[in-house]
Amino acid sequence: MQIRVFQPADETAVIGLWNDCGLIRPTNDPKKDIIRKSKVNPELFLVGEVGGKIVASVMAGYEGHRGWVNYVSVNPQCRRQGYGRKILAEVERLLRLRGCPKINLQVRATNHEAVKFYESLGFKVDEVISMGKRLEKDSVQPSNR
Ligand SMILES: CC(C)(COP(=O)(O)OP(=O)(O)OC[C@H]1O[C@@H](n2cnc3c(N)ncnc32)[C@H](O)[C@@H]1OP(=O)(O)O)[C@@H](O)C(=O)NCCC(=O)NCCS
Repeated sequence: MQIRVFQPADETAVIGLWNDCGLIRPTNDPKKDIIRKSKVNPELFLVGEVGGKIVASVMAGYEGHRGWVNYVSVNPQCRRQGYGRKILAEVERLLRLRGCPKINLQVRATNHEAVKFYESLGFKVDEVISMGKRLEKDSVQPSNR
């Protein structure tokens, strides 16, 4: 798998991947998420390609205190081949280069496969509650990530 920075021409393929991975929620418009990401740390939005097809993604950011990862996905047909581990390792490398001391992420408690995946990469559960506040006027469910 070749890892590279997301390009605008990847939009359809990446949204298709997120759909296939169950990552698209009614309250998160993936096109808007991509447009916003193009303005903040676009170099931390990575895709993985195999044979010219996008099979993995991670959208990361660093705000000067913590690194964050979102939209971690691997095509269902390509799982358990180390692609998730590889793309996370690359984004971790890029965050370290920027001086980032810790990565945080949010994962639904019911997403046991993803929790196992992150644990295998050295992530641990932080005993915190995750809170959020929607700033967009058209948001529907304040609790949705
Ligand atoms: C989570 C996800 C990215 C993992 O991708 P992947 O390429 O299959 O992961 P890897 O092959 O790199 O797995 C690395 C290790 O993680 C663990 N792991 C991965 N998937 C697992 C699963 N379904 N069950 C248990 N452990 C798992 C294993 O320890 C694995 O090593 P091993 O295969 O040598 O045992 C993928 O399952 C996915 O896209 N899920 C749907 C989207 C999602 O939930 N994303 C996270 C949102 S927070």
